[in-house]
Amino acid sequence: MHRHHRELARGTELVTELVVMRRSALALGGLLMPMQAASALLLPATRHISRVAPKTCRALSAAAGAEGQEALDFDNTRLYPQPPLVQGGMLAVSELHTVAWYEYGNRAGKPALFVHGGPGGGTAPMNARYFDPALYRIILVDQRGCGKSTPFAELEENTTPDLVADFEQIRRLLAIDTWQVFGGSWGSTLALAYAVAHPERVTELVLRGVFLLRRKELDFFYEGKGTNYLFPEQWEEYKAAIPEEEHGAGFIQAYGKRLRGELGQEAQLAAAKAWSVWEGSVSRLSVPSRQALLAKWADADFALAFARIENHYFTGANGVAGFFPRDGWLLEEANLARIRHIPTVIVQGRYDVVCPAVSAYELHSALGTSTLHMTTTGHSSFEPEIIQRLVDATDAYAAGGGTAAAAPEDGWSLRGGSSGYHRMAGRRGTPAALAREAEAAAAAAAAAAAAALRIPPSAQEYASVLQQLMLSRRTINAFEPELPVGWEASLQRAVRAATHAPNHKRTEPWRFHLLGPAAAARVCELNAELVAESKGAEAGAKKLKRWLAMPGWLVATCVRSSMRSAGSSMDEPTSILREDYAACCCAVQNLCLSLHAEGIGTKWTTGAVNFDPRFGAAAGLPEDEYVVGTIWFGEAAAQPDAPTKRLSVEEVLIRHD
Ligand SMILES: Cc1cc2nc3c(=O)[nH]c(=O)nc-3n(C[C@H](O)[C@H](O)[C@H](O)COP(=O)(O)O)c2cc1C
Repeated sequence: MHRHHRELARGTELVTELVVMRRSALALGGLLMPMQAASALLLPATRHISRVAPKTCRALSAAAGAEGQEALDFDNTRLYPQPPLVQGGMLAVSELHTVAWYEYGNRAGKPALFVHGGPGGGTAPMNARYFDPALYRIILVDQRGCGKSTPFAELEENTTPDLVADFEQIRRLLAIDTWQVFGGSWGSTLALAYAVAHPERVTELVLRGVFLLRRKELDFFYEGKGTNYLFPEQWEEYKAAIPEEEHGAGFIQAYGKRLRGELGQEAQLAAAKAWSVWEGSVSRLSVPSRQALLAKWADADFALAFARIENHYFTGANGVAGFFPRDGWLLEEANLARIRHIPTVIVQGRYDVVCPAVSAYELHSALGTSTLHMTTTGHSSFEPEIIQRLVDATDAYAAGGGTAAAAPEDGWSLRGGSSGYHRMAGRRGTPAALAREAEAAAAAAAAAAAAALRIPPSAQEYASVLQQLMLSRRTINAFEPELPVGWEASLQRAVRAATHAPNHKRTEPWRFHLLGPAAAARVCELNAELVAESKGAEAGAKKLKRWLAMPGWLVATCVRSSMRSAGSSMDEPTSILREDYAACCCAVQNLCLSLHAEGIGTKWTTGAVNFDPRFGAAAGLPEDEYVVGTIWFGEAAAQPDAPTKRLSVEEVLIRHD
């Protein structure tokens, strides 16, 4: 299925249409405003379309929205390939505000509205990748004041009812009768608010990282009553941006003063960055590298819109956040009664510390008709398990039609409540594939139910964690100088994992030599000598310095017992020598994955020194072992860049009749 989309995305000349408005141009009083953007403002209520070159499209695709994405490799996730933009425009929703919208996918497909987070985060083209572009007509909207909507970061006339009304205007503009509403974090708040206001327009709700904008949720995250206990270092930075004497009155208020510009521009930008970085640094299960964090969350434009608008909504009006009539309004029975019939899937990270799981749980319990998936993740919509659950939901809804929460008929239901949320009837695929999918979905449902009841994780959940570990392991090039506390116990467990690698004839050929400082130094010096010989003394000295800084040294070897490998050759496909080497490589990978699972990075090197005749003596290896590689290990000081290329599953999994 994905191959089809990939070809579609690649093969189609990008007749991509979009209104491009450069914020920098607007900053110059509109003098440099592109023609099409200017006309969009002059003729506000119609669609305004222009062509953008593929290069521009790619740049736009790379841009980040509010959903916590950094430069990551999503090829091995369930996200669909990036579909090209079909059309887009700017809609003047009031005298002051113009809102950018974008359409992807199949114009005749099932309509879906993607509601971004923040508020103030804006959309990115990749938000469309949660939906099968062959089956969905996907609409993205930059809410007031953010993304490409104008005026930039404007707080006037910017409230929840305004945003709800904007969606209605866009729905009418695009002649959409009903649509699926998909939103995470603040996107879930706004999706719920929209559904309460216009339940007849919503075919399904897909919600992630549920946020009900209640005082207690804000206190947990912004006022030092929760998240700060888990992320104390990051909290320190957030706290330090506000003088001590203002702490008592509350951080949202103190930040608000600065973000509204009451203390000048410099204080405004500093507050915007600190606010935004706080959220970015705790959104994932693991803390992102400083570099990735700052690249997105401290970007001045992004941070300003994001922090200003978020703070504005969290301040709200009349002492109630979100411009709701009362705190906890979304959970009131009168509102839930309006949306209970709407098929709803909730995907919630168990370890989400931005929007803690209690809100998803309370919503799910109060609705009584939704399906709740608790994932072993944080908040970000880009953690692989979250992606999987969300795409499962959109796929299932596309397959089942899903216009109403009908009771399951001949199909099956994912949920444990009174009404099934979709059926498999009508889904395309072979019977065997359907059965497999049904089995996987049933396992997923059981896992979600178990998670909700705090039953230990199921095999399915373990599988997901294991897959995430394999997908996230990378060769580490820069290590912290000291090994982390507890590394020896981690190494013991990793070696144990290594000894469980497959090995033909149970030869167990692997050995791991842990080098102490003296042995490591001898290897470093030998290597420096080799480098100096080939590249000169200066290069040798540089290498020596770099290698001496490696915190952990392990030499993986393969036992070459004379009995076993007599007459054996690497060129002989079935030789013991060759099979033993393959087994050792599996063992090394087990070891690296186990260390990675415990937060210890590795680099497997096979530089020339490993095979120098003097290496064995320098490292202290027995005569009958040969080197498979040196494994440096330690705490990563920086995450490597995302690989520029990785073959897709379709390219490497070749089917034959
Ligand atoms: C047998 C083997 C030997 C390797 N030797 C080196 C090496 O000498 N120097 C190096 O920089 N990386 C070495 N690597 C690491 C690879 O370059 C690395 O795995 C590759 O770039 C893919 O990146 P990833 O591990 O982050 O996915 C080796 C990997 C393997 C499997």
